[in-house]
Amino acid sequence: MDTSSWVFGYGSLIWRADFPWLERQPATLSGWARRFWQGSHDHRGVADAPGRVVTLVRAPDETCLGVAYRVESRVFDHLDQREKNGYERAEVSLTLTNGEDVDGVVYIAPIDNFAFLGDAPLAEMARQIQNSTGPSGRNIDYLIELANALRDMGAEDPHVFALEAAAREVRHP
Ligand code: SIN
Repeated sequence: MDTSSWVFGYGSLIWRADFPWLERQPATLSGWARRFWQGSHDHRGVADAPGRVVTLVRAPDETCLGVAYRVESRVFDHLDQREKNGYERAEVSLTLTNGEDVDGVVYIAPIDNFAFLGDAPLAEMARQIQNSTGPSGRNIDYLIELANALRDMGAEDPHVFALEAAAREVRHP
């Protein structure tokens, strides 16, 4: 019996796969857009000074490019722990780069979760990211790693690339 399933990564799961996977393929998820609207208290910030990390928000006309991993079910214990700061598992349909449509799981931080920050002016989000650090490291490194990974994949993501450019301009106080 095959107990493996696909999990879709659109943020740090693209470039920091700290779990065993059986297969890895670029993939797309329709109807969702990646946004730096989720607060991070446990990885790239702390409770009284959260960083900003990505979640997905509904966007009927958009498609999010990420990476799908086929993993054994035991890997979800680790992922649930890693994505515990407001994320929930959602079941979705993914399109793999080989053209195949598969059922998968994605971790989404919904707008009503305790750590959700939402939208803010670009310069404000850039400043927050440049100035935040948490147990997993600097928030700016998360943003740059993600932008680099998306560039390597040929992704078009104006939100991420504009934020990266703005964050690189921020001067420390
Ligand atoms: C993901 O990468 O799929 C979830 C968000 C994150 O951990 O950055």
